[in-house]
Amino acid sequence: MDLQPIIKVENLTKIYKGGVMAVDSINLEIEEGEVYGLLGPNGAGKTTTINMLTTRLSPTSGNATVAGFDIIRHSMDIRRMIGVVPQDLTADEDLSGLENLLLVASFYDVPKSVALERSQRLLRMVDLVEAAPRQVRQYSGGMRKRLELIIGLINEPKVLFLDEPTLGLDVQTRTTMWEYIKGLKRDYGMTIILTSHYLEEIDALANRVSIVDHGKILVTGTPAELKASLKGDIITFGFRTASDSEKLLEYPGGLEKIDAKDGVLKVRVENADKTLPELLSYLFQHGITLSTLSVQKPSLDEVFLQYTGRSLREEGASDRMKAMMNMRRVRKT
Ligand SMILES: Nc1ncnc2c1ncn2[C@@H]1O[C@H](COP(=O)(O)OP(=O)(O)O)[C@@H](O)[C@H]1O
Ligand SMILES: [Mg+2]
Repeated sequence: MDLQPIIKVENLTKIYKGGVMAVDSINLEIEEGEVYGLLGPNGAGKTTTINMLTTRLSPTSGNATVAGFDIIRHSMDIRRMIGVVPQDLTADEDLSGLENLLLVASFYDVPKSVALERSQRLLRMVDLVEAAPRQVRQYSGGMRKRLELIIGLINEPKVLFLDEPTLGLDVQTRTTMWEYIKGLKRDYGMTIILTSHYLEEIDALANRVSIVDHGKILVTGTPAELKASLKGDIITFGFRTASDSEKLLEYPGGLEKIDAKDGVLKVRVENADKTLPELLSYLFQHGITLSTLSVQKPSLDEVFLQYTGRSLREEGASDRMKAMMNMRRVRKT
């Protein structure tokens, strides 16, 4: 029994009314104690997957088990032992932070005194002790996300689902959230399933990651494995004259182009230490000057680009804007 993965997903599929194929026959195995990342752009099917695994949404076909319980037949058993931090904010704005915690604790039949003690400990963990008696309506975006996190922990779950835990947060608050999440794995050995479209987040937190797009899993591995699967280094040239980019591509040694636009050319070479001096002397011979130059080892963004044909970084930017607008709307109503 112990050797079974704590989460096993088989051909899980969701087609919404109207025919949208949100999750397309995915298979996953997650081991106990893992922080498992689902990385993909907006609309990839991450939230739909989480909602099925947390028994909030029934699959169209396929199945999954969480800690040996079937998501269709044993939804109550699963709900009792998991924690969920949904993408949308769920806390009641008219209640205080503490009242929200106690309310959710009562849904789980946690005795009042235990709930109070647990709440205090969790509030301390995310630095919300002082804010606890205040109405959630008055919380900042970062405070709300921290509260949502500990609401998901009030039943001391074995498995925690985090759907975009840092969506719309500023960089500093995001890094603080990462520390809390790392602490849950380190101190409690909690199994955590995390969705994100932030590459840095997955890189910082996940032991293993599946890249998802259009409802499908494209590749699974540790972040290091995925990066290592892309051989070579990436050199990014910025040109003063956009047409100079073409000239460099005529380099007789041959260059593997990854991306080219607005006078910026990205190429992959086997070993930049060796190739770059040769490329520079080629540029010099042709009288081409550069405005910028950088070399990098492959990142998860390149992995994403490789499997999906587009960059997640660019989508992330417009998404953050949307998320911020959403949060404002929520707060106003
Ligand atoms: N309730 C719904 N009804 C119909 N389509 C939906 C619903 N929820 C999500 N979708 C669609 O399913 C796809 C996956 O959405 P979602 O799971 O929210 O993706 P992600 O969380 O990765 O952004 C999208 O095309 C989205 O528009
Ligand atoms: Mg989502």
